[in-house]
Formats: sequence, structure tokens, C-alpha cells
Amino acid sequence: QPKLTSVKALAEAPGLSSLPSSHTFPIHPNDEQLPVSDTNESIPTVDFSLLTSSNPDERSKMIQELGNACQDWGFFMVTNHGVPESLMNEMIEACRQFFELTEEEKAEYEGKHVLDPIRSGTSFNASVDKVLYWRDYLKIFQHPEFHSPSKPPAFREIAMEYSKRVRQVAKELIRGISQSLGLEDHYIEKAVNLEKSLQIMIANLYPPCPQPELAMGLPTHSDHGLVTLLIQNGIGGLQVQHNGKWVNVHPIPNSFLANIGDHVEILGNGKYKSVLHRAVVNNRDVRISIALSNGPALDSAIAPASKFLGDGRTPPAYRAMKYKEYVELQQSNKLDGKSCLERIRNTRI
Ligand code: SIN
Ligand code: FE2
Repeated sequence: QPKLTSVKALAEAPGLSSLPSSHTFPIHPNDEQLPVSDTNESIPTVDFSLLTSSNPDERSKMIQELGNACQDWGFFMVTNHGVPESLMNEMIEACRQFFELTEEEKAEYEGKHVLDPIRSGTSFNASVDKVLYWRDYLKIFQHPEFHSPSKPPAFREIAMEYSKRVRQVAKELIRGISQSLGLEDHYIEKAVNLEKSLQIMIANLYPPCPQPELAMGLPTHSDHGLVTLLIQNGIGGLQVQHNGKWVNVHPIPNSFLANIGDHVEILGNGKYKSVLHRAVVNNRDVRISIALSNGPALDSAIAPASKFLGDGRTPPAYRAMKYKEYVELQQSNKLDGKSCLERIRNTRI
């Protein structure tokens, strides 16, 4: 298979005035034909300092709000999380510098298999994407084993600190989610073997696009893990689906955008739904986003918590599957809504 040109190289080619046909959607993937809304102010906020408060009333009130956010949106902003803003900015800068490496330097990280610990490329899954997405990416497995590209030189140290700090935030959110589901606060942690959790950094580059209304950054999808924490370089593009609308997300400065993934939906037997989201592109600014996916351990098989199965009288809504198989299934196919979760849904109910 010939190597594909990165979107960055396409966008920087002199005289680019229209979208290449390789990236043009004949019918825009806005197939749901949902209206786009800017009612950003209604997106829930979780104050992390209250979630981890030693005052039990403050904590239980925040857990209640976290539960409502998971139930109503599957998406929320996390404030007062304690991760230094400077570290978040350094991480974005390090990713920007990675994308600025030469095509040859980046090709070293092309990756052959979806479970390779470092992969850099374009679109989502170029071998199956009929129309390519206006997006370049770098994916790195950072836990249980930490990996890093060797360039740019500062990347490793920044990424190591950043992933550790984000993992701590994710762990507290997972405890809160567990409790908000009426489970013991360590239930999910134990069920997924969080000690060995798979944490993946996905850095996305969306260069300015000559015809953004005919292109797509990332198609509608849900995330495979438990909780994803995302930051961006101040440029919007993320849309989340809520009440039959696409909501443009304008983050509170210095916050994380958090969404729950398919494995929270599975563990809660469908009580909380993983949220559908996508990335649109624009014709002015380079957008960089960095998602940290926090999931179960690769060899853990995840199934709905028995608490929701009413002493065996309620059938589980999803079949148990090893996280490794689930990730492979999602990443090797077309990224398409919640098609992966649908494959393990029990149709008897
Ligand atoms: C993602 O869904 O992984 C990234 C979305 C974004 O770029 O905001
Ligand atoms: Fe995502």
C-alpha cells in the first residue's frame, strides 16, 4: 500500500484552494441531519476539588452531579483538577512539534497493527476509510508501559508527567462514577484491573481546510474505554450529541473535556450511555486536540456489574469481552457510531 500524504502536507502545499477529492464527502457525513446548537452553557461541569473533598457532604453532592452528567450527557467539563496549566500547554506544544517533524521522521512511527504502542498517520483507518478524514494523528500507549517517540527531545518527559497526572484525575472520576452508579467506589477499579489500565494518548492535528463544509475531522463515534480526558489548543471543533442536536463545545479555560466510553456503558448495564461525538474542521486555524483514553487492562474481560442483573433475573445487556479484543474490533474497522458496542449487545432484551 502506498504511503498516504499527511493532511498537514496537503494543507501546506502552495496554492491549495479546494479540497482534494480524496477528502471530499459526496454526501456530508452529517447523516443524522441533526441541527447544530451552540447552547454550550448547559454542558455540565464537575468541580474536581469538590469530588475529592474531605468534606463528605461536598463529595456526595458532587458525586450526585457527576452521576447526573453521566446520565444526561455522558460528557462534562472538569475544573479545579490540579493539573498545572503550564503542563497542559507544554503537552500541546510537544505534540505540535511532533507534527512538524518531516514526513520521513514521522514515517518511523507508521505502525502496522492497531495494538502497536506508537502509531502515527492520517485519517482514522486509512485502509478502510473510503473518504479520508482531514486529520493527522499520533497514538501512544502510555500505561501500563510508557512509550514515547524520541523526537521532539522534550516529548518523553512532558508526556510521562502529563499521562501520570491525567491518570490520577481519571482514577478519581472512575471512583466517583462507580459510586454514582450505586456500586462500591472501588468496584469499577477492581473489575477492570485499573492498576494495569490501558491508557492511550491520541494527539490530533486538524490543519485549516479549504472547504470545511465538505470535509470531516473525525466521524461520529463513541470511545472504547472508560473515561476520555481531552484538551485542545483553544480552537473549537468538537461536537457532542445531546437531545437530538450536535452541541459545539467551547471549553472553560484550563478545564478537561471528559466523556464516558463504552466500558462505563457496559459495566452499568446501559444505565449510562457512552456519548456520540465528532470533530469538524475550519478554514482558518490549526486545531490540535489531545485525548487521553483511560480504559480497562487489556486482558480484563468486562461484563455488566451483577448488581444490575437483579439476582440473575435481568439478562445482561452486553456480552463479556476482553478489552483487547474490543479495542482491536473498534480500531480495525470503520469508525462508525456505536457499531462496536452493538456487536456485543444482547438482542434478547
Ligand atoms: C476524539 O474524539 O478522539 C477527538 C475529538 C476532538 O478532536 O475534539
Ligand atoms: Fe473520541
